[in-house]
Amino acid sequence: MSTAQGLADDFRERFGRAPSGVWSAPGRFNLVGEHTDYNGGFCLPVPLDRRTWVAAAPRDDGRLRMVSLDVPGEVDVRLDEVTAHRPGGWGAYAAGVLWALRRAGLPVRGVDMLIGSDLLIGAGLSSSAALECSVAAAASDLFGLGLLADDAGRVALAVHCQTAENEIAQAPTGGVDQTSALRGVKGHALLIDFLNRTLRPVPYDPASAGVGVLILDTRTRHSLSAGHFGDRHAECDRAAVLLGVDLLRRVGVDELPAAEARLDDVLFRRLRHVVTENARAVRMADDLEAGDWRAVAEGMTAAHVSMRDDLEVSVPQIDLAVGTAIGAGAWGARLVGGGFGGCVMAVVPLDLVGGVAGAVDRAFAAAGYDAPDGFLATAGSPAGRDL
Ligand code: GLA
Repeated sequence: MSTAQGLADDFRERFGRAPSGVWSAPGRFNLVGEHTDYNGGFCLPVPLDRRTWVAAAPRDDGRLRMVSLDVPGEVDVRLDEVTAHRPGGWGAYAAGVLWALRRAGLPVRGVDMLIGSDLLIGAGLSSSAALECSVAAAASDLFGLGLLADDAGRVALAVHCQTAENEIAQAPTGGVDQTSALRGVKGHALLIDFLNRTLRPVPYDPASAGVGVLILDTRTRHSLSAGHFGDRHAECDRAAVLLGVDLLRRVGVDELPAAEARLDDVLFRRLRHVVTENARAVRMADDLEAGDWRAVAEGMTAAHVSMRDDLEVSVPQIDLAVGTAIGAGAWGARLVGGGFGGCVMAVVPLDLVGGVAGAVDRAFAAAGYDAPDGFLATAGSPAGRDL
């Protein structure tokens, strides 16, 4: 039985009626371009072949009832009472989407929802956006909004999902995760330019180069609403003000020396991360297009060094996994996602995958850390209706 069918059956048992349908949205792994989205820069995500599903049916009384198969407790809230952190926890991401659609004047009513996922939660693979975007897809169909039908509608949905995350979950994130989940193209990475939200799909086929992208979950966890992520965003905004630009994206690599004189050491390093990361993203899209996976992997390692030293969003477990993977034969590796824990991504020749994973396991055991969990990432499909 498919996951969607299983969820639909489960919905019928819990809510005593059939769902109107089942919708889903993928997580993502970002090849490069971290903390660039909210600076108007470039990102290069791939929708992941792991996702979140929502079985849903509308209600007429303005209530939202939600049950997750992965987190205990039911959320039950009136839509007109949704506000910052109400509901709290994971419920904020789902309720926030309905709130954002209603605020835009769209005819969204109450809903019953059952949610299931095969994504790691809070591990840098965009579990929050997968939840938001699956709910957005469901709402679009349930209330006849028609926003899944074309790219313009999907752009609008991605913006509503980001608004939900910023205003109801109070996480000051950018839009890379929602853009990847809603506007992704199967089998492709997406070079996204956040100045105007335009996309360039680039074929993603590591096997053609004899490599795979190994994701290792270090089991350290972040919460994007917990502060550090917001600190980085605020530091970037401060640097932009001091440099007299609206977004750090406006600063080119050749302007870094002049900028250094105008910023303190911390703000200059934040700027240098964003500026060099934008350049790496544009270049990596070309390397990917050319099938040059050595260059892709080297770009990832350079991105990791920048996230570790300039942006300062890494943690010891992540650095150990990156260093050990490269020492055991990975062509390149880095932290995935916003940082402060989560997963590492490594480009590994296919015949070395077991060896690299084993080396990281041993290094973690020696350091007294819990053993990481690994899998080879494959590209998934964008948000849509499954049943
Ligand atoms: C999180 C945020 C994104 C982005 C990344 C870092 O995933 O949700 O908007 O800022 O971190 O690249």
